[in-house]
Amino acid sequence: MCGIVGYIGYEQAAPFLIDGLEKLQYRGYDSAGVCVNDGEKLVVKKENGKLTVLKNMTDNGNNIAGTVGIGHTRWATHGKPSNENAHPHLSRSCSFAVVHNGIIENYMELKQELSAKGITFRSMTDTEVVVQLMENCYNGDMIDTVIRVMKMLKGSYALGIMFKDNPDEIIAVRKGSPLIIGIGEKENYLASDVPAILEKTRKIYRLDNDEIAVIRRDGVTVYDTNKNVRNKPVEIIEWNIDAAKKDGYEHFMMKEMMEQPKAVHDTIAERIKDGRVILDEIHLTPEQIRKFEKIHVIACGSAYHVGVVAKYVLENVLRKPVEADIASEFKYRDPIIDEKTLTIVISQSGETADTKEAMKEAQKRGSYAVAIVNVVGSAIASEADDVIYTLAGPEIAVATTKAYSAQLAVIYLLAIYFGDILGKISETDYQSYVSELQALPEKIQSILQTKEEIKNIASKLFACKDTFFIGRNIDYALSLEGSLKLKEISYIHSEAYAAGELKHGTISLIENRTLVIALATYGRLFEKIVSNIKEVQTRGAYVLGIGCEDHPELKEIAQSAILIPKTCDMMLPSLAVVPMQLFAYYVALFKGCEIDTPRNLAKSVTVE
Ligand code: AGP
Repeated sequence: MCGIVGYIGYEQAAPFLIDGLEKLQYRGYDSAGVCVNDGEKLVVKKENGKLTVLKNMTDNGNNIAGTVGIGHTRWATHGKPSNENAHPHLSRSCSFAVVHNGIIENYMELKQELSAKGITFRSMTDTEVVVQLMENCYNGDMIDTVIRVMKMLKGSYALGIMFKDNPDEIIAVRKGSPLIIGIGEKENYLASDVPAILEKTRKIYRLDNDEIAVIRRDGVTVYDTNKNVRNKPVEIIEWNIDAAKKDGYEHFMMKEMMEQPKAVHDTIAERIKDGRVILDEIHLTPEQIRKFEKIHVIACGSAYHVGVVAKYVLENVLRKPVEADIASEFKYRDPIIDEKTLTIVISQSGETADTKEAMKEAQKRGSYAVAIVNVVGSAIASEADDVIYTLAGPEIAVATTKAYSAQLAVIYLLAIYFGDILGKISETDYQSYVSELQALPEKIQSILQTKEEIKNIASKLFACKDTFFIGRNIDYALSLEGSLKLKEISYIHSEAYAAGELKHGTISLIENRTLVIALATYGRLFEKIVSNIKEVQTRGAYVLGIGCEDHPELKEIAQSAILIPKTCDMMLPSLAVVPMQLFAYYVALFKGCEIDTPRNLAKSVTVE
């Protein structure tokens, strides 16, 4: 996600801004910029690319005069990486400058209203509506103006705001995206995250939602949206810089697992309006959608596992044949697809060579390719016919978690959107699916809160040598991901198996104390999976069951069991994957494995 920094004091601002942005690079970004008030005007320097470009352009900040400024590293969500889309953004008359982290969900409506007033926009970003609104609403009082603008915005945002005619303050606003204020000696600092300011101070104010801070050289005043002054406690940061980058978590993987509710929320929020799924970003017309005779999903690794879930979900809703293919196999098996096939390509990085090549093969055969990607402007996103971005933010840990969950959310959006166009969903089901989808973030959060229970289970099982994940129907699709999560970070051999298939050979491997993780969330086949659990138990297996709270009997049947909240069948994987991610994490932790960067693996495999 984006990084924000700010400085106000008696030293030159730009060198601190650049240094602070450098310390926030780990958050992931594709462009960077600074704005400094030189006493007469707001000077903005910004450029697409890595921070070195900005450092060279500004001589490490030494060629921009001024003692108050804001800076930003951008992780693109709306508008591709470019100079125009980089922050800071200036208002029409260059009187206001804004940097932003988060998503303005209603930016299109606001942009239309402002354009109707003759305001022209320089960028494709959602952020620019904020700075134009600041100028358009300014009534001489910055706090009044900010409060008025906040009332118009929907979504999550952390803002740094400067006003040309007031070089003695920076305004900071928080709603949903983190923002802290560093307290110095005759100087103060603004940052998205602690690492940016840790070398300057360990004393901070942590802004809460709907708080507005006026940051001056001699102090900071925090207001609520009724303009009441808030007395903020000073927090002393004890972390070292490495811990600070992980927001205090021991590993990026845990931080990113905990970010899953937000990743799912952000991915669906602006695509559901008044109870309807809106996918304006795809150009497919209903006529085109009705013409597709089948769907092919191609991806690698965990993204492929989303594809297998998509097969069950989309076939169930659309009643059209759906195939999920491993990209490296798809390209070389002379696939039978043509212009009547819709190809869905899934990739977190958007740079996986196998997936990119498979997509090109599909397009060469006439298929229309819709990509589900997390990195804006990546190769797959650029070459697909349509792209739907997951808004999970940058994922640092090699083992994907929040991106997988966000990809699942996009599959559900597509199932509802296509199902409605194909006339396969009743209005009652439509509303129920949308309601269940919007309830997912909170249900994921409730499971994350049971992580100590899962840690305790892992503490008893981490010494296992061989593991089997079994499931039926959508639970089988999910078992693939559970198995990969465990083996890629704990190095324990694991296999995912269709539970009904085990008895056709592989059950010969089940012996005393073999760990079997049985996915039993799909209610329609609960009795069947119970039989499979008993099959392996009679051969000595230790079974950890993962089921729904409407089947509490699983706790009596399996030696250990984790129950997840109920949801509609197609969304079960979004909940059941969380205990498996946590289980894998804690097993690896107890084994002393290097969790964020497992051996032999890369975050993005850019070679075939
Ligand atoms: C999953 O935890 C791994 N990181 C790996 O399987 C990954 O999903 C796969 O390499 C595909 O990467 P992509 O989503 O960036 O294309």
